[in-house]
Amino acid sequence: MVRLGAFGVGLLFVVTLLWAAVQPRDPVQPDPVEKYHLAPVAIDWSWRGPGNAGIFGTFDRAQLQRGFAVYKGICSACHAIHRVAFRDLADIGFTAPQIKALAKEYDIPSIDDKTGEPSTRKGLPSDKFPLIYPNEIAARAAQNGALPPDLSLITKAREGGANYVHSLITGYRDAPKDWQVPDGLYYNPYFRSLNVAMPPPLSGDGQIEYADGTKATKDQMARDVATFLTWTAEPKLEARRSTGVAAVLFLAALSVLAYLSYVRVWADIKHPKAGAVPAE
Ligand code: HEC
Repeated sequence: MVRLGAFGVGLLFVVTLLWAAVQPRDPVQPDPVEKYHLAPVAIDWSWRGPGNAGIFGTFDRAQLQRGFAVYKGICSACHAIHRVAFRDLADIGFTAPQIKALAKEYDIPSIDDKTGEPSTRKGLPSDKFPLIYPNEIAARAAQNGALPPDLSLITKAREGGANYVHSLITGYRDAPKDWQVPDGLYYNPYFRSLNVAMPPPLSGDGQIEYADGTKATKDQMARDVATFLTWTAEPKLEARRSTGVAAVLFLAALSVLAYLSYVRVWADIKHPKAGAVPAE
């Protein structure tokens, strides 16, 4: 009897499984974000070298300096580059007195050496660019709940790198009719959720006055700042590439030498000279 009961339960189980297996599936709802999301526009960056291959190519110092001007003039209102020290800017062509003067413009958190109370002091070339907000809570409180990320490594942290930064800051537009943009957010098809909390940072031509006289169009500013942020994320990019090229040349020369020695070492065995005693 018990056995029959167990068989009945088992049968019910199997029948339920079979029944479930042949039920039609719910149609998969298309992700509405997928419909409008755009991949970053690919740009021929000078620092990616011929063919945009990323093997050769060096940074244009003038462009890096323009990019820093855009960062300082616009982005630094909300974003820090806390992994970069003032003296690192020597790499992009700033002179020692320029760096000293620049560092002095910034207040660095410190303590008062008489009272021990928190205070600030003038920046030194060895200081890092200071944080904009002391902590995440303060940042979110000031930015309507959103957190402007540190930009030092952003081109490594986002898929698409410099292309993404360029597309994001130039890609604002009106939302499609069937897309809701909550208050305080902005429509941007390059941002992962399409609604970004960052107000369009580049308003138009002439927002920055470039020291080298380049015309500061929206596209130009975006290219320059994306290039600058590529450098902050990988300041040793040029050294890495030239070491790589030198290593490949060295290995190629070594291969030729290895081949020549091989030919020489085996010469007697492969083509014995007349009269030579073959090796046992
Ligand atoms: C008024 C403040 C403000 C300014 C100025 C500003 N940003 Fe932002 N930015 C934000 C906020 C807030 C976020 C976070 C957005 C979010 O998570 O929705 C953000 C996010 C970003 C992100 C990350 C997006 C992601 O994928 O998470 C990048 C890159 C960025 N900003 C670049 C820049 C650049 C480059 C500039 C200067 C040209 C700039 N921002 C100027 C406020 C600002």
